[in-house]
Amino acid sequence: MSTLPPLVELHLHLEGTLEPEFIMRAARKNGIDLPWASVEDLRSRYEFSDLQSFLDLYYANVSVLREREDFSQMVYEYLRRAQAGGVRHAEVSLDLQVHTSRGVPLEVAFGGVRDALDVAEERYGITTRLIISFLRDRPPAEAADLLRRLIVTGARFDGIGLDSAEADYPPALFTEVYEIARQHGLRRTAHAGEEGPAEYVRQALDLLHVERIDHGNRSLEDDALVQRLVRERVPLAVCPLSNVRLRVVDVIEEHPLVRMLEHGMQVSVHSDDPAYFGGYVDENLVAVRDALAITPAQEETLLRNAVDAAFVDADRRAELH
Ligand code: ADE
Ligand code: ZN
Repeated sequence: MSTLPPLVELHLHLEGTLEPEFIMRAARKNGIDLPWASVEDLRSRYEFSDLQSFLDLYYANVSVLREREDFSQMVYEYLRRAQAGGVRHAEVSLDLQVHTSRGVPLEVAFGGVRDALDVAEERYGITTRLIISFLRDRPPAEAADLLRRLIVTGARFDGIGLDSAEADYPPALFTEVYEIARQHGLRRTAHAGEEGPAEYVRQALDLLHVERIDHGNRSLEDDALVQRLVRERVPLAVCPLSNVRLRVVDVIEEHPLVRMLEHGMQVSVHSDDPAYFGGYVDENLVAVRDALAITPAQEETLLRNAVDAAFVDADRRAELH
């Protein structure tokens, strides 16, 4: 019997790993007034009606990150949790624009994250990739400026992503940003088809030349697109617990993951914003295993798809397989 590959996390927002305890502690340390009375009060707000209702809380809470060590600490705490859950490779996204646009110097936010990622393999046995995500509801020119600044200053990161409010912000707006990334050999992913239509998945492929899609659920509304995703083996980094909490699906039992597998789509399971949605990648896998009666063969496919979709070289891929 073949052994299963280890857990690979491909869809994780670092700011989405801020646990309520961390948020309240950092707010106290940095003298920031948050509207929550306690950890329990904050946790009681984790009821979302859609993506925007979650983003409002997520963006409010990142205000507690001020110093370089806050950014490092966020990443250390994530790595510790990931290691405990069996993760051996993590490709993490940073919403850098959120921090620079509220006055945090680039070196503080980026440098703090980099400090922690640089010791991830040695301390936690986890190889990492860093993806800088741009916010689709902020001006594309701001994203292009930030990307150019990162490139000019020699910042070490591996790829770019596109996230935040999706409806009415088509990927087409970010064609130039992705072209800059492509010219500089950066890897490319984008959120598409979470709340936005299947057409946004097409645009991400045709205009942004992404190598994988974050979410992609609404691709299922377009048969020709499903056939294309299967034919071109486009990886979809799906987040089941997120989809339930943000009402992309009504209940976990109705999650389309098995349907996607049966179509032959290259889906894998990840966590998105685990502190907000009730589960890290290991817990997402347990949730679908239980609720969707995933077979051992399907689970192996999910794990292997994640390894195949990772932005790693052939040697690391072979080790992970
Ligand atoms: N930013 C953090 N989590 C996100 C999600 N699930 N969709 C879009 N943007 C996000
Ligand atoms: Zn996401």
